[in-house]
Amino acid sequence: MAFIRSVTVHRIGAEAKLDSAEWMDRPVVVKQRVVKGYRHPDLDRSLQTFRIRNEVRLMLEARKAGISVPIVYSVDLEGNRIIMEEISGVRAKDALQDSDVDGESICRKIGEIAARLHSNDIIHGDLTTSNMLFDGRRIVLIDFSLGQKSSEIEDKGVDMHLLEEAFHSAHHSRAELYDIVKESYAAAYADGEAVLRKVAEIEKRGRYTRKE
Ligand SMILES: Nc1ncnc2c1ncn2[C@@H]1O[C@H](COP(=O)(O)OP(=O)(O)OP(=O)(O)O)[C@@H](O)[C@H]1O
Ligand SMILES: [Mg+2]
Repeated sequence: MAFIRSVTVHRIGAEAKLDSAEWMDRPVVVKQRVVKGYRHPDLDRSLQTFRIRNEVRLMLEARKAGISVPIVYSVDLEGNRIIMEEISGVRAKDALQDSDVDGESICRKIGEIAARLHSNDIIHGDLTTSNMLFDGRRIVLIDFSLGQKSSEIEDKGVDMHLLEEAFHSAHHSRAELYDIVKESYAAAYADGEAVLRKVAEIEKRGRYTRKE
């Protein structure tokens, strides 16, 4: 697969390397999973393949559920990479730190996206404001590599607990923002209240375990 240009490296994370490139005249992002030296090569290969397939499958499920996700152009299992549409926008995390941006409206959208995921039994697995891109109009959800399909309230609770923790650490000076997320989540999802009660239980459990 030939790329015309391969420029900015977004971030070299622990498990994946992200590059902007041009492919078939389109701006794309190439997400390449990095091979970890400390695992057995066969195990590593099957883990990488599993993660890539999983990520792509969940992106397609999310799209079917009406959630904005980047278009997947190509999946290269041999090369451990996904080639997808490049979203021109900023991370919701950064948008929420910008006083010119309507934070309440972003939070309402985040609650609706979480509601839509969970109504369709999609667990994102890393639901944070770093994995949401805001293009000025919509929120595009990315990074489904740790996701799964599940109808369990517990799994949905873990997703929402992570989102809450991410909000508290990234946007601690604006605690009211997460209330808007919760409100719109519960309004758009019939089991939303039950999931939020589960989150409270998970938090209690966490405090108890930490004390031991
Ligand atoms: N389709 C895209 N368009 C624009 N930017 C993107 C896109 N996908 C990823 N990015 C940028 O790259 C960053 C990292 O991407 P991503 O969250 O998928 O990787 P990661 O967290 O390193 O992955 P993983 O958790 O699977 O190891 C994002 O926060 C975002 O800034
Ligand atoms: Mg990420």
